[in-house]
Amino acid sequence: APDIPVANVQAHLGELQKIGDANGGNRAHGKPGFKASLDYVKGKLDAAGFTTAVQEFQYNGGTGYNLIADWPGGDENNVIMAGAHLDSVTRGPGINDNGSGTAGILEVALTVSQQQLKPANHLRFAWWGAEELGLIGSSHYVDKLSSGDKDKIKSYLNFDMIGSPNAGYFVYEGADAPSGSVEIQQLLEKGMSDKGVQSELTELGGRSDHAAFARAGIPVGGLFTGAEGQMTSEQAQKWGGQAGQAYDRCYHQSCDTKDNINEKALDANSDVIAHAVWTLAG
Ligand code: PHE
Ligand code: CA
Ligand code: ZN
Ligand code: ZN
Ligand code: ZN
Repeated sequence: APDIPVANVQAHLGELQKIGDANGGNRAHGKPGFKASLDYVKGKLDAAGFTTAVQEFQYNGGTGYNLIADWPGGDENNVIMAGAHLDSVTRGPGINDNGSGTAGILEVALTVSQQQLKPANHLRFAWWGAEELGLIGSSHYVDKLSSGDKDKIKSYLNFDMIGSPNAGYFVYEGADAPSGSVEIQQLLEKGMSDKGVQSELTELGGRSDHAAFARAGIPVGGLFTGAEGQMTSEQAQKWGGQAGQAYDRCYHQSCDTKDNINEKALDANSDVIAHAVWTLAG
């Protein structure tokens, strides 16, 4: 798999920061900063040759949107998906949560195009709306799929917070997830160990957009660098962080800006996303 240039990922974060700044400081559901974020990501994908679709939904008196981008080609009966939520909370611009996942999968998608990848399986990328209001966009997407279309999705990979300043290196645990999820876990762990990173497993839980896919029986996995939880001293030793401090002290705060990103974590995670996408693409 290619090495994803972290400078390109950071450039997307710079654009998302500008969008927040120009729109009242956030990119939240129902607010102009969300739609501007969607237009930015969609513009890049359209120019790169993806087939994009915007799925609208209503929630909490506002219009929400999911952005779905398909890379033409590959076996449509074997779909590999990677997704990230595009909305922020209203308190801040949401650059780590979840500009980081947004920018990481965007740069991986653009690299698929740049390399004109001809995958055996079909690749689909998704940016979800209204995650912060209760996983609304991703749940809407899965609810609207026919059972046939659900069956065609062989893996869903989720990326929500991959640049936390006091970064942990967590891989979603596959054990309690639909069968096939342990294989995704192992693939992501291998990607991390290839980069010299000693990852840990984190309980899958239901706190992000993989939840609807897992409920539908689809194998899921993902990466996470931590939110409000505190780093232990063992973790600080192996990852070079600050023990007793939150992984992200700006989680859901106005200080979740461009400065709230650990570039080393963003780089490693983006490269591991590419490793997983290239491998699953076949
Ligand atoms: N979904 C949470 C948020 O957006 C972040 C999170 C992801 C927390 C995964 C725990 C596990 O705020
Ligand atoms: Ca890289
Ligand atoms: Zn959040
Ligand atoms: Zn999030
Ligand atoms: Zn590798």
